[in-house]
Amino acid sequence: MTGPAVIRIAPSILSADFAALGRDIAAAERGGADLIHVDVMDGHFVPNITMGPPIVRAVKRVATRPLDVHLMIEHPDLYIEEFVRAGASMVSVHVETVPHLHRTLTYIRSLGAQAGAVLNPSTPAMALEAIAASLDFVVVMSVNPGFGGQTFIPQSLDKIRRVRAVLSAAGSSAPIEIDGGVDASNIEAIAAAGASIFVAGQAIFGTSDPEAATRALRARATSAAQARA
Ligand code: DX5
Ligand code: ZN
Repeated sequence: MTGPAVIRIAPSILSADFAALGRDIAAAERGGADLIHVDVMDGHFVPNITMGPPIVRAVKRVATRPLDVHLMIEHPDLYIEEFVRAGASMVSVHVETVPHLHRTLTYIRSLGAQAGAVLNPSTPAMALEAIAASLDFVVVMSVNPGFGGQTFIPQSLDKIRRVRAVLSAAGSSAPIEIDGGVDASNIEAIAAAGASIFVAGQAIFGTSDPEAATRALRARATSAAQARA
C-alpha cells in the first residue's frame, strides 16, 4: 500500500427528517460529513419511491459538501442530466439497469460529474471488468436496495476485496463506496476490507445526535484505514 485511502463519510438523507433536511444536513456536516448521499428510487427497479431532482436542487442550496446521487431507477439515462443540473457531483447507476454501461458512464462524465457503477449484492464483481477504466468510483451494495435501516450482508466484505482485485487488474485505483447497514459495529472491518467511502443512513440520522454519530463513524473508519496502510 502507498498510504491510507482518503476516508469519506456520506450520510444518506433517506433516514433524515424530510421536514428538516437543512437542519439534519448541517448537523452531519458539523460532524465531518464529506459527501451527502441522496437515494433516488422509482418504485420499479426497487420497491420504494423516494425523491427526485427538486429535492436534489433544494439540498444543493443548503449543503456545503458534494452531493452523491445514487440512482435506483430504470432508464437512468433519461434523468441523469437533470440530476447533474440539480447539483449532483457524483452520479451512480446500477449495472443491472443499463444495457450500455460504458455509454452511460461516459455520458455522466461528459456532463461534468463523477461516474459510479453500483452492484447489487447478487451481482458479481466481474461485471465491472470490461469498463473498469471508465469508473470514477464503485458502489458495493451491502443490502438489497430499496430501504434504509437494513442489516449489513457479511459477504459484502469479500465483495469489496473482489471488486478491488478487478479494478487493480484493469489498472484502476477507483475508490470503493459501501452502501447499506453500515454502523459503528462494522465500519472498521469494512475499511479494513478496502472501502473508503461509507454511506450511513440509520446509523447517523436514526440517532438523537447525527453530528456525534458522523464524527464517531469517521474516527473509526480513519483509524482502521491507517492500520491497514
Ligand atoms: C438503500 C440505500 C442506502 C440506504 C442506507 O437502498 O441505497 O443508501 O439509505 O441506509 P442505511 O445506512 O440505514 O442502511
Ligand atoms: Zn444509497
